[in-house]
This record gives sequence, C-alpha cells and structure tokens, in this order.
Amino acid sequence: MLLDGRLANSCLIPAALLEGRSVVTIEGYRNTARFDLLKACFEKAGAVQCGFCTPGMILAAEALLCQNCNPTQAEVRAALAGNLCRCTGYNMIVEAVLLAAREGGKLWLKPTGL
Ligand code: FES
Repeated sequence: MLLDGRLANSCLIPAALLEGRSVVTIEGYRNTARFDLLKACFEKAGAVQCGFCTPGMILAAEALLCQNCNPTQAEVRAALAGNLCRCTGYNMIVEAVLLAAREGGKLWLKPTGL
C-alpha cells in the first residue's frame, strides 16, 4: 500500500496507526489513469504471469515514478526490491516500469486523483 504517498508493507502496520493518514491500496489505485498506463505497460512487456506479485510491483512503480519520473534501470530495480516474483522474472518487470516512465511523461507529475 501507499501510506501518505510512500510505499509501505501493509502487513507490518497496525490498523490503529492509520487514523488520519492517506492509505492507497491497489483496489483504489486501479481507478486511476496511472494504473491504466502501468497495466498496459506490464502487459506490453510481458511482465505478468500469475499476478501474485503484481499489486506490490504496481504500487512500488507508482511510488517510484511519482518521485522520479525518469528512473534508471538501477533505480527501478532498487525501487522494486523486496517484491518477490516467482514467475515472470525481474527483467520484464523492470522493462515495464521503464516503459511506463517513457510513455507516461507528465502523467507522473500530477496527483493520482485519489
Ligand atoms: S507473476 Fe507470478 S509471482 Fe510474479
């Protein structure tokens, strides 16, 4: 999830600490134009197989691209670290995020609308 705009492991944060804070989950994020772009880029790059890891990868990409809309491959890899994928392999996922950065342009500079 994104907690106050930053990537956070939802399983490690007690619900009592969320009062008054901004929480964005993949369920809410999927109603945004940026989700549509990331989804399309993950599909184009062949970066999804079972989809188990995908919500975390997508939200990690969102957190990265909002801070850095033109990341290097190394920056993408660092931003995705901790999200484990057993199916796709990381190269296609990294390519999907780089593709989203290229295709999104100024989209990453705007608020999500959430
Ligand atoms: S697509 Fe299956 S774990 Fe990543």
